[in-house]
Amino acid sequence: MSDTEAPGPRHVAIIMDGNGRWAQMRGRPRLWGHHAGARRVREIVEACPALGVRYLTIFAFSTENWKRTQAEVAGLMSLFRRYIQREAQELFQAGVRVRFIGDRIKLEPRLVALMDELELLTAGNDALHLTVALNYGGRDEVTRAARRLAYEIEQGRLSHRDVDAETLARFLDTHVLPDPDLVIRTSGEARISNFLLWQSAYAEYEFVDTLWPDFTAAEFARIVGAFGRRERRFGAVRA
Ligand code: FPP
Repeated sequence: MSDTEAPGPRHVAIIMDGNGRWAQMRGRPRLWGHHAGARRVREIVEACPALGVRYLTIFAFSTENWKRTQAEVAGLMSLFRRYIQREAQELFQAGVRVRFIGDRIKLEPRLVALMDELELLTAGNDALHLTVALNYGGRDEVTRAARRLAYEIEQGRLSHRDVDAETLARFLDTHVLPDPDLVIRTSGEARISNFLLWQSAYAEYEFVDTLWPDFTAAEFARIVGAFGRRERRFGAVRA
């Protein structure tokens, strides 16, 4: 193996798309698709350790998703609450460390309380680092980071000369995570949709036609396995 070839992705990020279409194709309400999607999350989380994936980051709700109907937004928020309550013990027992990224300000306090509790409960775990992006947008994250950085400068704790990519990254929600190696998007759309914009600068992308509720651990394993055969050069030339 050359030193530009990766053995496997350590950090995989997923845009879980297609729940609504999956439900509509079956003549059911969109929320039904989100519930089916939530069941897939568990399957993919369980598959990670055996595949050597140490970090999994999933896009659950974007800063743009508030534009959906009030009923769908409320249904999703209720799904997130119930998911955390139902899965907390299981995730803890499985050694999963859960983190949330995104702006919590707009989220309802009872959901934020559950998110805080789950982060605290699993803070000592290390088998898999699961990050859930909730009210997350890449531009929003970079904007909030820039605002905090500007504040530090205003307070005299940093100089404008200290501002480089590394310093800015320290203010991102993801500051404790490595950059994703592989970003997967389901449902046939080839877009990033404001997900991990900064962090995915050198990520590989995989767009699959499968709708998220149909995305199996077997398909995930195939994509993760194929990653090792890609050559990543990070802007350099072949060795
Ligand atoms: C995109 O499908 C999916 C979402 C906006 C929500 C993602 C949420 C889940 C998979 C539910 C569970 C998540 C957790 C963390 C418990 P879409 O509605 O945009 O589908 P469409 O493109 O077919 O309309």
